[in-house]
Amino acid sequence: MTVRLRLSLWYGSALALSLVLFAALLYAVMARDLREQIDRSLAQAAAVAVRALEVHGVGPALPFEDLAAEFPELAVLDKFFQIFSPAGRVTIQSPNVRRHDIPLSRTALDAALAGQATLESARFKGESPIRVLSVPIRRGDLLVNIVQVGTSLHPVDHTLRRMLEVFLVAAPFALLVALAGGWFLAGRALRPVDAITAAAERIAGGDLSQRLTIPPSEDEIGRLIATFNTMIARLDASFQQVRRFSADASHELRTPLTVMRGETELALRRPRSAEDYREVLESSLEEIGRLSRIVDELLFLSRADLGQVPVQSAPVRLDLVLQDIQQQASVLGQDRQIQVTAGPLEPVTVLGDELRLRELLLNLVDNAVAYSKPGGPVELQLTQDRREARLTVADSGIGIAPEEQARIFDRFYRTDAARAHSKKGTGLGLAICKWIAESHKGRIEVHSRPGEGSRFTVVLPLAP
Ligand SMILES: Nc1ncnc2c1ncn2[C@@H]1O[C@H](COP(=O)(O)OP(=O)(O)OP(=O)(O)O)[C@@H](O)[C@H]1O
Ligand SMILES: [Mg+2]
Repeated sequence: MTVRLRLSLWYGSALALSLVLFAALLYAVMARDLREQIDRSLAQAAAVAVRALEVHGVGPALPFEDLAAEFPELAVLDKFFQIFSPAGRVTIQSPNVRRHDIPLSRTALDAALAGQATLESARFKGESPIRVLSVPIRRGDLLVNIVQVGTSLHPVDHTLRRMLEVFLVAAPFALLVALAGGWFLAGRALRPVDAITAAAERIAGGDLSQRLTIPPSEDEIGRLIATFNTMIARLDASFQQVRRFSADASHELRTPLTVMRGETELALRRPRSAEDYREVLESSLEEIGRLSRIVDELLFLSRADLGQVPVQSAPVRLDLVLQDIQQQASVLGQDRQIQVTAGPLEPVTVLGDELRLRELLLNLVDNAVAYSKPGGPVELQLTQDRREARLTVADSGIGIAPEEQARIFDRFYRTDAARAHSKKGTGLGLAICKWIAESHKGRIEVHSRPGEGSRFTVVLPLAP
């Protein structure tokens, strides 16, 4: 069952129920009011009749016409009058009653003897019921007469029946119109959903560049479309990243293999001296070293992705670690006369894994040295504010263009300037740094200008 049909049916049922309730209430209120009105008019008529009799007194055979001549209110068409003796026999009767014989009931007589008026309904076959009011006329304690006024309930019944008829005809019609309206509205409201489904199908077919182009609005559908588009954009980006990653990875793995293959084939072309073979083997060993480093780093990153790399959480004195690194790095930079110096190092403690933090810093310093011009300075700094430790590694080397700064943390990404500057390097170092910083609830920031140098800042939360 479609949502559209379900919505329309719900809507229709709710409407039908309220229509029936409304009609029932209206009917009940109308019926009561109309009956009360009848009873009130009977009481008024009875009062007139009683007054007429009090003026006239009741002789044994006073014709109604005489009475009516003097009290014209009595000669109304829709009511009849009867006057009974205390024994319950009719003495006077208005002409319009003669069609039926309406005797005084036992209950009415008893009530009249006790001095009380009685309201009753009487029913004749095939006709509307008749409403009858019997009022005693007493002189002192003595019952003299009983006046009875009656009228047919036909007008009431007729009105009520008309009402019912109108409802029975109009209600299904209203319901039909409402159902059609509901169906139309539900269809309109749900049309964008169909468009979304169609787009999702195209996207599932493999075209991640698809976006939904339904006019943006602030309603539920608008939000759904916006969310859908952001989701697809992120999927698109991550698929592209995966594709680029595989291309880059195979490229990085192929380069050392190509080198090894070329050198080995060349060496095998003719017999060579032991010295030559040794050279080829040494070169191959270097490439093998490079290959295993790539594979190790990739393995590390994929285990990190899967959350399988344990990260300890122990107090680490960052200033001491940095001093250590500065000494190691001085050695690294020696052959290109690069001075690695340490600026102010505040005593700072963070919670974390010392080995990983060392690896992070060593990677950054390694980059700073690798991408410096010969003789350029590299400076390490450690400061803290109230909540964070800030580790800075600054160089005045080749720098990074602004549009490349976001991508240097991607796996295998190397800038063209870096490729031209140094053949070594796989482009995995910063990806590992980023993961280590994030696994310590920290982050890495980069500030750099091409040709002027770079400053990498690692921000880590302080140990409480
Ligand atoms: N200090 C720096 N100055 C200029 N460019 C840098 C610097 N540090 C990183 N980069 C740029 O970021 C890229 C990625 O750095 P990353 O350390 O991940 O890879 P790599 O140094 O090329 O190789 P490796 O994985 O061996 O470290 C570098 O190739 C370079 O283009
Ligand atoms: Mg590096």
